[in-house]
Amino acid sequence: METFYVTTPIYYVNGSPHIGHAYTTIVADVLARYHRMRGDEVFFMTGTDEHGLKVQREAEKAGKTPKQLADENSKKFLDLFDRLELTHDRFIRTTDEDHTRVATRIFEAMQERGDIYLDTYEGWYAAADEAFYTEDEIQDGKAIESGAPVEWVSEASYFFKLSAYQDKLLAWYKSNPNCIRPEARYNEVVSFVEGGLQDLSISRTTFDWGIPVPNDPEHIMYVWVDALTNYITGVGAFGEDDEAFEKFWPCSLHLLGKDILRFHCVFWPAFLMSAGLEPPEQLFVHGWWLVEGEKMSKRAGNWIDPNELIEQFPLDVIRYYLLREVPFGNDGNFVRDRLIERNNSELADNFGNLVNRMVKMVQRFTDGKAPAAGELTEDDKLLVEVAKKTWREVEDAFKTREFNRALEVTLSLSTELNQYVQRNQPWKLAKDETQKERLGQVLYNTLEGIRWVALLLSPVLPDASGKVLDALGIDEAARSFTTLEWGALSEGQEIGVPDVLFTKLEAPAKEKEEEPKAEAKAPKKKKEQKKSEEKSGKLDFKEFQKLEMKVGLIVSAEKVEGADKLLKLAVDVGEEQPRTVVAGIAKAYEPEALVGNRYAVVTNLKPAKIFGIKSEGMMLAADTSDGKLELAKFSEAVAPGTRIS
Ligand code: MSP
Repeated sequence: METFYVTTPIYYVNGSPHIGHAYTTIVADVLARYHRMRGDEVFFMTGTDEHGLKVQREAEKAGKTPKQLADENSKKFLDLFDRLELTHDRFIRTTDEDHTRVATRIFEAMQERGDIYLDTYEGWYAAADEAFYTEDEIQDGKAIESGAPVEWVSEASYFFKLSAYQDKLLAWYKSNPNCIRPEARYNEVVSFVEGGLQDLSISRTTFDWGIPVPNDPEHIMYVWVDALTNYITGVGAFGEDDEAFEKFWPCSLHLLGKDILRFHCVFWPAFLMSAGLEPPEQLFVHGWWLVEGEKMSKRAGNWIDPNELIEQFPLDVIRYYLLREVPFGNDGNFVRDRLIERNNSELADNFGNLVNRMVKMVQRFTDGKAPAAGELTEDDKLLVEVAKKTWREVEDAFKTREFNRALEVTLSLSTELNQYVQRNQPWKLAKDETQKERLGQVLYNTLEGIRWVALLLSPVLPDASGKVLDALGIDEAARSFTTLEWGALSEGQEIGVPDVLFTKLEAPAKEKEEEPKAEAKAPKKKKEQKKSEEKSGKLDFKEFQKLEMKVGLIVSAEKVEGADKLLKLAVDVGEEQPRTVVAGIAKAYEPEALVGNRYAVVTNLKPAKIFGIKSEGMMLAADTSDGKLELAKFSEAVAPGTRIS
């Protein structure tokens, strides 16, 4: 049996959880469920990071002890994860006793290796990031990358000989090209380490909220040494539970956000090597959720509280949106209307509707029982091929953590099933006595296809898939990918009618309620003005904001064969891969003249097939008076992917 150990970062307890924290933990949950369904032995860990200056200061501000604050806020994370019905095997807290023991032991192991020495640290520190910064990483009293204020620190400190690990780290990266994903992050880390590493200060003496350094309790262990070690505490390293450690280490996958890349991809493997332990198999670095293109913050009032989302939307739909909307690794823009749209068209109209229609037909035409499978016709065989190909693609996509692709192909199988039903028209077959057998086959194949889709969607949509599998009479033991053999649904199986799977959603109730109130208060004149604005085609700012426009750098351009107006462009809009955009600008621009320039691109239109090519964006251009076109252009000062608003 294979094992799969997945972790999320452990969350700081200086505040409450937001959607970013829920996101990573949901992704880990999806992976854990997926691997359980493969039959792997899974360990999924999440938790809270409770020590350090940041938490101590927040507690002082709130007039609490750090432990009180940690208890209160850690509970908020735990409660949220329960409400999200996540299936973690351990919720670790760095104040747990076994963790204190393990953090102490890893420190000792690094000391025994001769990698720790006492000196004085003089330099900049940002408590908000719990990070040290060099002079060239700060500007105007702030860390350039994060914007966190820095303060000058000068105190006795233990140091870790990180510089001694440069070559070992580089050798590890080079011989394990998949150890850091996506590739761009791997390259970022390699070039950072190639640039040279400085020894790292790993203890502080000016506050006391943390784990004391062994044999020198004046010093408190650097919170990142303490925090990263949680990953081995969880599986029992250093004599806590050798069996668990043997089984689950090295960790299969650490998930982390892009802001904590250096700690995880440079410091952590070096600490492990120093302590004589193996580095993890893979670190996957994901992007950030933004709200209307902006970083989330309580001050800006755009904070998305997952608890509120749970009140507004079904859990499955939240999970689906978070995984479907953005390729894992990229930044994403959280837009409630997009969530609603995806729910309505991809879940309710496509899969929900299919299940609904089919179970009803089975009640009407075959007495509520699965009919006999019979011999597959050519058309049926095509369907089976699509289903098999879908499973292969889902497996592939899970390996590369492309959850959006896994969902896209699974929903395409549902589309395929809808088309199969449309082609075979079981309602017509039911009227013809001579077609009874064919009717049974069509219903059987559709039910079987529904079983496949429900199984493939299970890790992301456990609730809706569970309802479908209940209706098909599939018991718990058979809810596994090992049952993805065409024909595993038994003839004669009672087929039930599941509860509503996906309700069509409208704009959130809160917004709907508020609108009429605001209108009622508006003086008549204003109302009339609004009406005439609507007539004249003027948009609310909110409407305008739905449009996502970004600066796109043209990476390559070529003519589209057979279409004299079209160019096929590869446009870098700040994502992992450039997008393909087909634009009707061939008469105005030579392809070579475009490459290397930056233009405005609309990035959230539904993809369109143009001349058989999937176009994933639209170039913005003006028709000039002489009948030509001119693209909206930006200078080199603007980075690709910058939002235009
Ligand atoms: N305590 C450290 C992690 C220690 S792991 C050994 C920490 N905590 S955190 O609470 O600040 O952040 C935890 C994770 O949340 C990070 O991976 C971070 O990237 C992620 N996110 C914070 N804001 C986010 C978004 N807006 N969107 C997605 N993830 C975001 O760092």
